[in-house]
Amino acid sequence: DGMSELSTMILDRIRDVPDYPQPGVMFKDITPLLADPVAMAAVVDELAGLDEVDKIVGIEARGFILAAPVAYRASAGFVPVRKKGKLPAATLEESYDLEYGSATIEVHRDAFTPGDRVLIVDDVLATGGTAEAAVELVRRAGGLVVGIAVLMELAFLKGRERLDGIPVHSLVIV
Ligand code: PRP
Repeated sequence: DGMSELSTMILDRIRDVPDYPQPGVMFKDITPLLADPVAMAAVVDELAGLDEVDKIVGIEARGFILAAPVAYRASAGFVPVRKKGKLPAATLEESYDLEYGSATIEVHRDAFTPGDRVLIVDDVLATGGTAEAAVELVRRAGGLVVGIAVLMELAFLKGRERLDGIPVHSLVIV
């Protein structure tokens, strides 16, 4: 089909693990991709070339692994969005619903210079709850979200619909 060489390389290196972390969930394991230096370099170069940005935001935990080398490659700063309670200085927080219960993520209040152009990077876009909360955090902290970039988008969960008006760059859509 019309998939690019990069998409195929990524898809070949994401492993489906059934019933993790709970029965009925098919976990997308990116560790085979992380272990392949050629594929990783291609991914990092692609993500670093998407937009002209000042800051790359990585979402804990797997987003960090991608976002840090992308920031280096793009000559941009790296900003962590973390699960509640992990960042040491003053934070802003956003909560979002999970299938059961809710989750809260945070960013440092002073993470951005007003008007900073920001690309949010994560491994997987599923329901979009995490990405939507991250967008809100960046905006409240004074950043300008220019896009969201993920390795893999699970289209059937319609996460993209929650990110209206924000360019979503998915290297693989399944
Ligand atoms: C996963 C993934 C995304 C998020 C996507 O993170 O890395 O951040 O879920 O799901 P959503 O679009 O439905 O919000 P997880 O919460 O498992 O955190 P981890 O990377 O720390 O394991």
